[in-house]
This record gives sequence, C-alpha cells and structure tokens, in this order.
Amino acid sequence: MSQATEQITARDERGATAPIIQAVGASREYELAGEIVHAVRRVDLDIRIGEFITLVGRSGSGKTTLLNMLAGLDHPTSGQVYFEGDDMANFSEKQFIRLRRHRIGVVFQSFALLPLLSAYENVELPMRIAGIGASERSKRTNEVLDIVGLGRRAKHRPYELSGGEQQRISIARAVAMKPNVILADEPTGELDSVNAAEIFGLFRQMVSEEDMSIVATTHDRTLLDLADKIYTVHNGEIELTEVGKHVDVSAQFKRPNEE
Ligand SMILES: Nc1ncnc2c1ncn2[C@@H]1O[C@H](COP(=O)(O)OP(=O)(O)O)[C@@H](O)[C@H]1O
Ligand SMILES: [Mg+2]
Repeated sequence: MSQATEQITARDERGATAPIIQAVGASREYELAGEIVHAVRRVDLDIRIGEFITLVGRSGSGKTTLLNMLAGLDHPTSGQVYFEGDDMANFSEKQFIRLRRHRIGVVFQSFALLPLLSAYENVELPMRIAGIGASERSKRTNEVLDIVGLGRRAKHRPYELSGGEQQRISIARAVAMKPNVILADEPTGELDSVNAAEIFGLFRQMVSEEDMSIVATTHDRTLLDLADKIYTVHNGEIELTEVGKHVDVSAQFKRPNEE
C-alpha cells in the first residue's frame, strides 16, 4: 500500500475512515405549477472512504434527487454538499468536469448509453476523454465487460441488447474508470435476481478491495446484506436503518472468466 493510500484510508478511534462526500442539511425543492415539492428534506449523510451504502425507498421518495446532489449534478436549494471538505456550490465548471471525469462515477437509472456506439466503445469512451492510454483502455474495457458477463456482446450496439444487458454495460462503464466514488441509481432495476446479486457482489468486492465508496439505490431488500449501511428514504428524509451487516462475498462471487 502506498503512503498516500495509507493516509487516505486512515481510521479514527472508532474505526471510521474520512468522509469523501458529505451532505449537511441538504434540501431540494421543486416548484411545479405553483406547488412546492419537497423532494429531499434536510438530509445529513456522510459517505466515507471504503463504504458501501444503500438507499432504499419507494418510487417518489427522493432517491434520484438525493443521488444527483451527491454527484454534483444538481444543487441543494438549502444546505450543502461537500466533496473532500469543499462545498460543491463553490466549484467552478472546470472543477466539476474534473470531478465527474476522474473522481465520481454515475450509473444512471436510464443507463445513458450512446446509441451509435458499441458496448465496447461505450465503456471505452470516458477513459479516452480522461486521457487514459490506449493499451490500458483496452485492457480495462475487456476486463470489465468480462466481469459483467458481456465479453461476447462487446460489438453490439445498445438497441441490440436487452434492458438488463444495457444496464450491465452502464455499470461496466462506471467501474472501468476506477473512480473514488460510484453513485448508482437503481443499478439492478432491470436485472434478474442472479445478475442483481452478482452486481452487488461486485460492488462489495470493489469497496473492500479497492477502497472505493459506493452508494446505490434499490428496491430489492434481498441485496441489502451486502451493504455497510442501509438508509431508508421516505418522503425526502433519510433514516439509518442498519449498520455493519457486512458479509464477505468475495469467496462466492466468481467472475465469468475465472471458471
Ligand atoms: N424536475 C422535477 N420537477 C418537479 N418535481 C420533481 C422533479 N424531479 C423529481 N420531482 C419530484 O420529487 C420527488 C422525488 O423524486 P425522485 O427523486 O425522482 O424519487 P425516486 O427516485 O425515489 O423515485 C417526487 O415527488 C417527484 O415527483
Ligand atoms: Mg429514482
């Protein structure tokens, strides 16, 4: 472990690592036809280094709005969101671009794949934009496509793939960038239970082995055992429901190319 990594993963006396993203009293209101919608209400949330957090809640509870604010894609109408201690409200356009390019990976509920590019090209493009060299790009692209079980579909375009396959491509694209934080909005919404468990197993493994932080929203209660902290989202508010039910699944989770 390098010195820098050692420092960043240092734990306090209670075993907690430093927060990478913090929401402090963050609220988001929308005005819709003269009515105020309180989508997120005074949320305090620390996302620490090497932590896997799930947000569980019904449709309309505020999960997407909260996740977008944590990613800096949307801003609180009151309260703050900090990235490594800096208020994102003060970030310049350039800082946001750097943040989104190198530090924070987002998996959108709608996948946001580019329709004219193949699965391979969709995964590779952000790395190209981030200036990662050609051989490293192709190594990582092939690796993550194998991890999500789509190595054989690399040449297919999104419309030739099922919803679940497109979802796995969008997850592969975020994972390949090796960001510090992945914010994933219902990343298993289109997957059957076996694939969903594998994706959450992959997230668990990345958090445990690479000190990545992951926040994923989900409906699926069977996946929750894999998270470090579970928050229930209700009516725009969050409540810590469970802590530390950490299961080591690295032994169970088998990559398709390791068989
Ligand atoms: N752009 C918007 N304009 C107005 N209301 C919105 C907007 N986006 C979300 N909302 C409202 O905010 C609430 C939370 O939505 P959302 O964050 O999408 O919930 P979830 O992801 O949990 O389904 C809902 O009542 C939704 O209708
Ligand atoms: Mg949503």
